[in-house]
This record gives sequence, structure tokens and C-alpha cells, in this order.
Amino acid sequence: MILLPKRNLAITLFSFHIFLSLILKTQAKCNTGCHLAIASYYVRQGTNLSYVSDLFSQEVPEILKYNPKVTNKDSISTGTRLNVPFSCACLNGDFLGHTFTYITQFGDTYDSIAKFPYSNLTNKDWLQRVNSYQPTRIPDYVPINVTVNCSCGDRHVSKDYALFATYPLRPGEDLSSVVAESGVPAHLLELYNPGSNFSAGNGLVFVPAKGNSSGAIAGISIAAVAGASILAFSLYLGIYRRKKKVVEASTPPAISQDQYVRHRHVIDMSLSHEIGSVDKSVEFSYEELAKATKDFSQDNKIGQGGFGSVYYAELRGEKAAIKKMDMQASKEFLAELKVLTHVHHLNLVHLIGYCVEGSLFLVYEYIENGNLSQHLRGSGRDPLPWQTRVKIALDSARGLEYIHEHTVPVYIHRDIKPANILIDKNFRGKVADFGLTKLTEYGNTSLPSRLVGTFGYMPPEYAQCGDVSPKIDVYAFGVVLYELISGKEAIVRTNEYVPESIGLVALFEDVLSQSDSEEDLRKLVDPRLGDNCPFDSVRKLIQLAKACTQETPQLRPSMRSIVAALVTLSSSTEDWDVGSFYENHALVHLMSGR
Ligand SMILES: Nc1ncnc2c1ncn2[C@@H]1O[C@H](COP(=O)(O)OP(=O)(O)O)[C@@H](O)[C@H]1O
Ligand SMILES: *[C@@H]1O[C@H](CO)[C@@H](O)[C@H](O)[C@H]1NC(C)=O
Ligand SMILES: *[C@@H]1O[C@H](CO)[C@@H](O)[C@H](O)[C@H]1NC(C)=O
Ligand SMILES: *[C@@H]1O[C@H](CO)[C@@H](O)[C@H](O)[C@H]1NC(C)=O
Ligand SMILES: *[C@@H]1O[C@H](CO)[C@@H](O)[C@H](O)[C@H]1NC(C)=O
Ligand SMILES: *[C@@H]1O[C@H](CO)[C@@H](O)[C@H](O)[C@H]1NC(C)=O
Ligand SMILES: [Mg+2]
Repeated sequence: MILLPKRNLAITLFSFHIFLSLILKTQAKCNTGCHLAIASYYVRQGTNLSYVSDLFSQEVPEILKYNPKVTNKDSISTGTRLNVPFSCACLNGDFLGHTFTYITQFGDTYDSIAKFPYSNLTNKDWLQRVNSYQPTRIPDYVPINVTVNCSCGDRHVSKDYALFATYPLRPGEDLSSVVAESGVPAHLLELYNPGSNFSAGNGLVFVPAKGNSSGAIAGISIAAVAGASILAFSLYLGIYRRKKKVVEASTPPAISQDQYVRHRHVIDMSLSHEIGSVDKSVEFSYEELAKATKDFSQDNKIGQGGFGSVYYAELRGEKAAIKKMDMQASKEFLAELKVLTHVHHLNLVHLIGYCVEGSLFLVYEYIENGNLSQHLRGSGRDPLPWQTRVKIALDSARGLEYIHEHTVPVYIHRDIKPANILIDKNFRGKVADFGLTKLTEYGNTSLPSRLVGTFGYMPPEYAQCGDVSPKIDVYAFGVVLYELISGKEAIVRTNEYVPESIGLVALFEDVLSQSDSEEDLRKLVDPRLGDNCPFDSVRKLIQLAKACTQETPQLRPSMRSIVAALVTLSSSTEDWDVGSFYENHALVHLMSGR
């Protein structure tokens, strides 16, 4: 499919690596924060707004925007909570928080500062950690650090919430009172606060607040923007020479105007560096994409992932798929754009272009048959025959082998799972969704980083230590193989009635460890395969999956050997001759545990 560029702009993603390295430099447990979080500040007797304004270095009118119930700014009611907006940054790459400055008063202790002025939004241990003064030797009238923790959400829990209040629990409160006060369902509060005791009468919890395009977020001032954006903004001023585009009234921005402009700066900074080659990918206008998707109508929606909604489009006479992402997903957007404009392979989804008006859009070739997860478990689809499953495994392995071994730099996908493997009209597989892809530089493969990906597909070394290497994709690929074999999900409910679950890897391991596992293995095979399934071939795929999901990353095969093994398996499946299978060199090598 050939599409002509809308604008003849020389765009390269050259400066992207600057952007990425800015993020990567300090990362460990988190790598970015969010522009906005709320401190739920309990109002005690004698507190007034100007006092709160000083404590949090936030203007009174700004605070008022988040407190529609406060009608008289000169008197705020004791015993209520005030929402104080602040920016939530990733501090030292270690945790999400914001450090306020407080001037000590005569007789202050860390405990008193945490309890009284800051209403338990922090505690004495935490203050002691972020200040150099000994607890018994805090000078009077000096600035000290007051660090308040915050949250930017968790896309594995829900994407609907991007704004979180840091909420100190008070004596007498419990889960039901927080539900009543916040309107957030109990199970969501628990999911966002694993390990918190809502009845303990103290401690912090994070309470989600729905707020995306509403006035609330629109109110946040430039001063509250997280450090990363300010840095990006100054860089932007330095290198960006293209005329700024204004959001037209006809463009419905998903977020407020000033938020839009801010995110746009970051994107533009990465997109524009007017030297070098013209990229193959095309920039589309919002109007064109809206027209092609009937204004992003629900009828056209074909997919939903962690970062965006995907719409079917008819664009310039061709079928296309358009992923629409929030401006907040700029990192994922840029990662995907970067990889897919640089890397082209038959088994990787093809990117046609992008658009950054109002929201972030990626335009792909349309893949007719949806994703692998739908075929394995969705209703209304015919079961995939065994040969097709092996082929899809081989196709995905080839896509991964390509990014692991044949590109410079090498990439790690980090989110391999059936929902991210697309099936084309000939039932061949293509790897998609490069939003979490990470580039690796040799000798620097285990940058500690924010844990991303999907539970059930993360290998132990990654989930526990954050070690990143291509072997995390190999592990996830092994889980996909088990899913192709069993039709089950990566995490299996062991009992319908109790919320107990086991990983698919453990389920297979349990059976494989039995001395005579044959019968139980047969039980794990997808019943939808029926009798039409050569068990010898199944057993070989199980062996391969087992090799991929070994605990020690070094023992897992490379994608290259996996491709070799699957080529053999696939050809032997085709002609139903599995006899010569074990003679294959690569596989013998592989299955001997190297
Ligand atoms: N090019 C495409 N053609 C057809 N369907 C697609 C295409 N890209 C994505 N989809 C559908 O949309 C879903 C979500 O896409 P994905 O890129 O994984 O988004 P996310 O980053 O939000 O997870 C996929 O699982 C798939 O069902
Ligand atoms: C606000 O409260 C502070 C501290 O409690 C007090 O010093 C100040 O006088 C008060 N200001 C007003 C306008 O009431
Ligand atoms: C802070 O916590 C202490 C003890 O946990 C409690 O007694 C006090 O009332 C709390 N203060 C506020 C303002 O919530
Ligand atoms: C803030 O987060 C850090 C890191 O997770 C934690 O050690 C600390 O106890 C938290 N502080 C408070 C007051 O909960
Ligand atoms: C506050 O934190 C900063 C940055 O970590 C540190 O340099 C400074 O010494 C701290 N202030 C005090 C009083 O410890
Ligand atoms: C939570 O805290 C309350 C009050 O301190 C206590 O009675 C209860 O046992 C705690 N629950 C858990 C699960 O720790
Ligand atoms: Mg996805």
C-alpha cells in the first residue's frame, strides 16, 4: 500500500534517543511521574487557605478549582478534607512523590511536622529519611524537606483512573467510609492499595479520582508541571523551530488545551529534528482520520488495549487500523513510532503513519483476523487447527528473532502475549503493540526500570529484580506456546468458586514433573483441537515451551534456535511426518538444555 505524505516535512526521530535517555538515566522503580496528584488534606481547627497555600506552595485560586464545595475562601470547615493539587514526580528513580519545603518553627519535631502542619500526609520516619538533620537536632527556622508520596495509577488495574489522591487514613475510618466519601468501589480501592489496612486508623492510601478532560485538570498551572516536562520544554525551546500548531475548534481534544500544549511540546521535540532523511511514515491530519473512522464511532472500534482504542478505518482507499492514545501515553506512542519506522519485517505489523492532533494516533495496515487471544478463547471463532497454531508460533518467533538479532539497536518487546499477536487473512501471525519496547545497548542490557508488561508473562528475574534482557520475551513467548497448546489463559483460575489462581507455566510444570505425565498432559491439550491433533507434535511444542520458560534466563533458548525448532516442527506437522524431528540439529541442541 502506498500513501503519499500529507506534508513534505523532513522528520526524523533522531532526537528521540535524547528524550529516551533523559527518561532512562534516573530510572529504577519508576521512570516518570504524572502532572497531577491530589493531597487529601484534613482541615484542623485554626487552619485557613492561605496557610495551606504556603505549605504546598500552591496558589489559593488553584486550590479552589479542586474544591468546588468550598464557597467561602476565608473560612474552610474544620473536619473536612481539602484537595490540594500537586505534581507527582518519580524521585531518585525510586518512588513517586513530591518534596515540599517547610520552614521549621520553634520546637518542631519530625513527628509534629508530619502530624500537624501536614495532617499525616507524611510521617516521621519518612521525614527523617529525606532530611539530614538528626531527629533530636532540628534547628529552628530552617528549610526542611517534606516528601509526600503519590500515585499515577496502574494500567493493569484500570485505565479509567489517571488522577489519584494521597489519602491519610484517620482513626475511625475504614474501607466503607472511604468508599462513601470517594464514591470509588471497594474492590478498586483494594486493587490500588494491596497490603493496606483501611481500618488501621493511620497510613496512606491512594484513592482514584475520575478526571481527564474535566475542569479539574484543566486548572493545573504550568508551575505544577513535573520536572521532566519542564526539562523537555526548555529543550523544545532550544531545538524546535517549526511554527506551533493551534488546536482548531473542530478538533475535539481528549484533554484540556494547556495540557495538550504541554504534551505536544514533548512530542514535537522528539519528532522534529530537521536534518537527515525523510521518514517513510506519513503524518495525517485529525480530520482525515476522523473521516476515515466515522468520527471514531463505536461501530468502528475493533480493539482495546492497555494504552489505546483501535478503530477500523478506510483511509485513502485502503483498509487501516488506527490506535488512538491519550496524550499521557506519549512515551508508549514514541516507542512504537520509533520501532516501527525503523524496523520492517513480514511478521511485524506495518505502520503507515501517525497524527498528533488532539490525541496521539498510530495508523497501521489493517490485519483482517484480529488477535490471537480472540482466536484461542473468543466466541464465534472456529478453533485454530494444530498446524495453524504451529505456524502462528513460528511467525511470531520470526518477528521476535528479527528485533532481537537483526536490528541495530536491538529491541526487547516486553509485552508479548496473544492479544499483541495479530492474525492476517491467511492466518499468519504478526507481532504488534510496540508501546513498551525497549532498546538495548550492548553491555547495558540490564538497566533497572519501571516494571511494565503483563502478569502471567513476566519471568521471575524481571518480576523480582527488574532484569531486562531479550530472554524476557523468550519467557513470554513460552507462555504463548502453552496457551496455543491448551487454549487456557496465562493465569488460570483453579476453582470456579474461590479466587485462587495459578500461572500456566506452573500448571504445566506440575504435570511435567510427574513420572508418568502423558495422560495428564493430554488433559491439558485444548479440547477444541478435538482428535485432529498429532500428540507427538504437541509434546514437542510442550518441550519447547518448557525450555523457554526455564527459571534461569541463560538456559532459555534464543529466538534464533526457537525459530529453527519451529521450522522443523512446522514442516513435520504439514506432512504429518514427525519421525525425523529429533534428528534436527537445532532442536536436539535446544532440548539438551543449552
Ligand atoms: N493493525 C491492526 N489491525 C487489526 N486489529 C488491530 C490492529 N492493531 C491492533 N488491533 C486490535 O487492537 C487491539 C489493541 O491493540 P494494541 O496495539 O495491542 O494496543 P495497546 O497498546 O492499547 O495494547 C489488538 O489486540 C487487536 O485486537
Ligand atoms: C491563617 O492561619 C495561620 C496559622 O494558623 C495564622 O497564622 C494566620 O493568621 C491565619 N490567616 C488568616 C487570614 O486567618
Ligand atoms: C494523625 O495521626 C495521629 C495518630 O495516627 C492522629 O492521632 C491524628 O489525629 C492525625 N491527624 C490528622 C490531622 O489526621
Ligand atoms: C512513601 O513511599 C516510600 C517508598 O515506597 C515508603 O518507604 C514510605 O514509607 C512512604 N511514606 C509514607 C508516609 O507512607
Ligand atoms: C533536602 O533534599 C535535598 C535533595 O535530596 C538535599 O540535598 C537536602 O540536603 C535536603 N535537606 C535537608 C535539610 O536535609
Ligand atoms: C487492621 O487494623 C485493625 C485496627 O488496628 C485491626 O483490628 C485489624 O486486625 C487489622 N487487619 C489486618 C488484616 O491486619
Ligand atoms: Mg496490546
